[in-house]
Amino acid sequence: MTVPPALLSHESTEHYTPQYILDAVIACLGAIDLDPASNSREIPNVPAARHYTAQDNGLLQPWECRVFLNPPFGPGVERWFSKLYLERSAGRTTEAIVLWKSATETAAWKTLTAISCRVCFPSARIRFAGPSGDEGPGPTFSPAMFYVGDRPERFEKAFDGIGAVWVVPE
Ligand SMILES: C[S@@+](CC[C@H](N)C(=O)[O-])C[C@H]1O[C@@H](n2cnc3c(N)ncnc32)[C@H](O)[C@@H]1O
Repeated sequence: MTVPPALLSHESTEHYTPQYILDAVIACLGAIDLDPASNSREIPNVPAARHYTAQDNGLLQPWECRVFLNPPFGPGVERWFSKLYLERSAGRTTEAIVLWKSATETAAWKTLTAISCRVCFPSARIRFAGPSGDEGPGPTFSPAMFYVGDRPERFEKAFDGIGAVWVVPE
């Protein structure tokens, strides 16, 4: 199987969340109300009640209730975390789980961990699928999942089988 090189890189915007991660997200949140960075409204990868695609520009829309975010990776990624910060501060986002990477040296990491109270570091590399459904041998980055909300014990339970869950220092 030939895998597009971009899928293996942190620069790819089209790396879809695998089902076992979505299962853990739903176990934690109960349901997903919004995917603000979706591949499609007709055939979405994430089973959310509402989806914003690139056409809608999720960065310009309200993010209400329980949000799952796997943003388009790349240089502008911090805008997605600043947006989450604003939506959470405004009380529109009640809980969120973000799938991103361990990039502790970046401003994006600092923004994200300023609002997260738990981070899960998966014990195995996440194998993302691309638009054609192809699954690569694994990305070149180490993923991490962030919990924003007031029920961290639910996140700890739901993500326990995926990797170590760390408490973010205040
Ligand atoms: C990393 S993929 C995640 C897809 C899906 N949410 C998932 O988790 O499997 C990011 C998606 O965001 C879409 N996207 C890019 N820019 C966007 C924007 N401004 N607003 C909403 N979606 C956008 C891309 O087309 C891509 O499908």
